[in-house]
Amino acid sequence: MKRRSFMTQMAGAFALSTISSRLLAETNPMTMPMGHDMGAKPLQPAVPLANINALKGGQVLQALVPLKNESTRNGLFKGTLIAAPVDVGLISAGKTTFWAYNNAVPGPMIEVMAGDRVEILFKNHLSQASTIHWHGLPVPPDQDGNPDDLVLPGETRLYQFTLPKDCAGTYWYHPHPHGDTPEQVYRGLAGVFIVRDPEDPLAGIPERHLVISDLKLQQDGQIAPNDANDEMNGREGQFVLINGQYQPQIPISAPQERWRIWNATNARYLNLSWGDARFTQVGTDGGLLSRPVPDQKGLLLVPGQRAELLVNAGVRSVTLAAEIYQRGKMGVVAPEVRRVLADIKSASVAGVVPALPLALRQLALPGPVKAKKLVVFSEKMSMQNGQHSMQFLINGGQFDMNRVDLVSRLGEVEEWEIQNKADMDHPFHIHGAQFMVTERLRNGQIHPEPYLAWRDVVNVTAGETVRFRIVQHFRGRRMFHCHILEHESAGMMGNLLVV
Ligand code: C2O
Ligand code: CU
Ligand code: CU
Repeated sequence: MKRRSFMTQMAGAFALSTISSRLLAETNPMTMPMGHDMGAKPLQPAVPLANINALKGGQVLQALVPLKNESTRNGLFKGTLIAAPVDVGLISAGKTTFWAYNNAVPGPMIEVMAGDRVEILFKNHLSQASTIHWHGLPVPPDQDGNPDDLVLPGETRLYQFTLPKDCAGTYWYHPHPHGDTPEQVYRGLAGVFIVRDPEDPLAGIPERHLVISDLKLQQDGQIAPNDANDEMNGREGQFVLINGQYQPQIPISAPQERWRIWNATNARYLNLSWGDARFTQVGTDGGLLSRPVPDQKGLLLVPGQRAELLVNAGVRSVTLAAEIYQRGKMGVVAPEVRRVLADIKSASVAGVVPALPLALRQLALPGPVKAKKLVVFSEKMSMQNGQHSMQFLINGGQFDMNRVDLVSRLGEVEEWEIQNKADMDHPFHIHGAQFMVTERLRNGQIHPEPYLAWRDVVNVTAGETVRFRIVQHFRGRRMFHCHILEHESAGMMGNLLVV
């Protein structure tokens, strides 16, 4: 198989039935990860990682594969997602086994209109239980792939929901089974979900989609398991990919492009830069801002987060890179390095850049506040089997599926305060609703948020407090957690019951 197309079209190069059993056989119960009660998840002995030159870049960035709409009825999107192992030839030393939706890494792109009915048939052909969580989307809790709403190996499940009219935005989907989410995501299970507004003021601008993921590859071609450092700090691979490609070229092909960018890594903070170009931010997780924010030199996109940008063709080519960001990793860690993600080839393109609308949409801060919630992130060091063990806590405890941590009332405006008392940054995420950050507190100083934006992920730096407003629109049980997936899996997650 040509490497160029490996991630977007990975149709079975190897017999799939043999893969899952081989993967299971590889696990070795001798070594235990640091921290957490992860006895059921032994670590494999370390195989050296592939050299950073093992993957070659320079190919043109490919578009995402769309998920086929099996319905012909207007207002109904029907699709099928099959999670299964797939083997790909990335390096000559040996094949790489991904776990993929419909043989594509990243998974197929779902595109619907706000207000649409969505029915996705999920078939689990993995050796582990899984779920599909519709990250950021306002869907009922019983359709949101909660950690205990498992689809067992070999089982099928229909997810169905009707989206509200006002939820246009840049979402994604990924597995959420408790304990196995990090592995399922780093092995390739994640895809994007775009909800469009019939009256989108930016409709007509050609779109480009960048799904950024991490790949930690062994010398033998296989995806490395998590080691103790990954479990503590969150996993980062030696390769950062865009749409499954290493250091692709992005040739700007219109006077102006609308970019949607997803941070689909387990734990990597993407401190994005684009040389001396200037981009305009127009959207966040939950859709458009009220006004464009021009002249952006870069953007911090934390795990789980999305952004929309307007990129103009110009005369210079620039490098899309992830600059060094210190997020407070613990223990003995490799020094942070700047990562080149892509080359943006930006020759001037015939045509005119459309005039930027002054207003993108009406946004209003929800109010008045009827209730308050406090969430405190902390960490605790302890000794376990003679090893230091780190626990990441929410409100002093670890996740318990059967405990209700917070209760909210349907339709009530709440102010949440997220205090990070840990030494590491943690990206806060909540399911099923978007929020608007109002202010942050650092060193006793209040920093009001510069503009209104709908988000479902917000970074909380070490020592910082973030305040936001949120309203719940569905009864039932929701999760809120750190979106460093290893922390979420280790118990940095809570249950919110909406009554
Ligand atoms: Cu992407 Cu529980 O989240
Ligand atoms: Cu989510
Ligand atoms: Cu965390």
